[in-house]
Amino acid sequence: MTIAVEVPPVAAQLPADFLWGYATAAYQVEGSPEADGRGLSIWDTFSRDPRHTEDGKSGDIATDSYRRWEEDIALMKSYGVTAYRFSLSWSRIIPLGGKDDPINPAGIEFYRKFMKALIANGIEPMVTLFHWDLPQALQDKYTGFCSRQVVDDFVNYAKVCFDNFNDLVNLWITINEPNVYALMGHLVGTQAPGRSSNREISPEGDSATEPLIVGHNLLISHGAIAKLFREGGYNLPGKKLGIVINVNWGEPYDDTPESKEAAADFMSASSDWFAHPVYLGDYSERTKQVLGPNLPTFTPEEIELVKGSSDFFGLNHYTTYLIRRPTAEVSTTNMLGRFMKGVEVTVNYPDGTEIGPKAGLSWVRPVAWGFKKLLQYLYKTYGKDIYITENGVICPDENKTPLPEVLNDDYRIKYFRDYIDQIIALKDTVPVKGYIGWSFLDNFEWQEGYTARFGVTYIDYENDLKRIPKKSAYYMTEYMGKAIAKK
Ligand code: NOJ
Repeated sequence: MTIAVEVPPVAAQLPADFLWGYATAAYQVEGSPEADGRGLSIWDTFSRDPRHTEDGKSGDIATDSYRRWEEDIALMKSYGVTAYRFSLSWSRIIPLGGKDDPINPAGIEFYRKFMKALIANGIEPMVTLFHWDLPQALQDKYTGFCSRQVVDDFVNYAKVCFDNFNDLVNLWITINEPNVYALMGHLVGTQAPGRSSNREISPEGDSATEPLIVGHNLLISHGAIAKLFREGGYNLPGKKLGIVINVNWGEPYDDTPESKEAAADFMSASSDWFAHPVYLGDYSERTKQVLGPNLPTFTPEEIELVKGSSDFFGLNHYTTYLIRRPTAEVSTTNMLGRFMKGVEVTVNYPDGTEIGPKAGLSWVRPVAWGFKKLLQYLYKTYGKDIYITENGVICPDENKTPLPEVLNDDYRIKYFRDYIDQIIALKDTVPVKGYIGWSFLDNFEWQEGYTARFGVTYIDYENDLKRIPKKSAYYMTEYMGKAIAKK
C-alpha cells in the first residue's frame, strides 16, 4: 500500500551534494544483544530494569535491525535517501570495551557488510562511534565517563573502527549529544547509567559535579580521537570527522534585559558548554559562570587538543524554549533549572499563549522560526559548516492512534517542511550541508521505551515488527527529490 501525497511545486534550491536521509542509533534499533559475541552495554543493564522505561520494556528486541538490515536498506533505498546516520555498538566490536580487551571479528564483519550494502545502494554511511551505549564492563571497572581512564579505551575503540571501516566511511561522528549523556545519565538519572548527582548540588545552587566531569572526559576523548584521525593517516581527502551536539534555541521570554541575559546564559550552558571548547578553545567565560566553580579546568595542552577538533557542526535540534530568570526559588526537584544557574525554561509567553502547538512528547514543540535563529546564531558564533544530524517530532497522541490512521502523520510532514524551509531560506548565508531526520523507524526511545514514535516508518510491534511507511516518508521522498538539485 502506498499513500498518495501532494507536494506543491518546489524549485531545486539545495545543492546537488546536499545530503539527506534519516538517523537511528545502535541500541535503539539493533536488538540481538547477545548475538555473535556482543558484550553488554550500560543500556542493556539499565533498560532491563522495568522501572526505567515507560512501558517496562528494554531494547532487547528493538526493531530487530541487526537481523533485518537488508530489508531496512531496501526500504531506505525506496525512500531515495542519500545518507543514513547510524551508530556502531562499541560492545559488539570490543565486547568488554577496553584497550587490552579482545576485538570481536563478528562485530566488524557485520558492520562491514552493512556499510558495503548501503554504499552499493547509493547511500552514504554517516557513522557515530558513541551513541550512549558504553560497554558495561567499563562502567563497572572505573565508572565509565566519570573517570579519565575512559579516554584511552575510547581512543582505542575509535582506532579499531578507523582501521576497519575508514575505507567505507567519509563522515565520522565521535559522540552523539555529550550534553544530553552527561545530564540525563549523571544528573537527572533517567537515562543510563542512571546516576543522579542531585544530592551533590550545594545549597548555594552550584552545579552538580558529576555531569561536569563526564562532559569534560567526553570532550577530551573527542579531542584525542580527532588527533588520532588526523595524525594517524585516516584523514584522507573527502573525509570528515566531527561531534554532534543537541542544541535547542533559547528565546528571551520577554523584552527585558533580564530575560535576554537569561537566554544568553541558557545558550552558554547548552551549546557553548561543548561547542566553545571544540570550535573556539576552552569553556567560555559565561559557561564558567553559569555552570559554576565545579566545572573542571583544561590544561593549556588540553585546550589545544580539543580546539579545532571538529570539521563541522553536527546539530541535533528539536525545539525552542522561552527563557527567563527564575521567578521563584527553583525547587530541588528542578535539577536542570538548578544546574544552569539563573535560567528558567518555559513554553508560555507572559500573556499565557504557548510558543508552539503540543506534540506527542512534552519537550518537543514545533517552532520553526527558532530553528532559523539558531542556525544564524551557530554560524555567526562558531563559523562552521553545519550538518543537521537529527530533527524530528512525534504527532499528538501518535502512540494511541490505531492503524491505519496513525500513518497519516500530517503533523510530522508540516514540521519537516517548516524546518527544511528555514534551511532553504538561509541557503545563501548559512552553509547547511545536509539534513538527517529523526528517525528512519519508530524505535526504542530510551526512557520512553516504545511509547514514543519518532519514525517516518511505522513499526507494528504487535505484528512481527512489520515496517509500514507513514505518509511523511512518501512526502519527504517527493519533497527532497525536488528541493535538491540533480547531479
Ligand atoms: C536525540 C538522540 O540522539 C536520539 O537517540 C533520540 O532518540 C532523539 N533525540 C529523540 O529523543
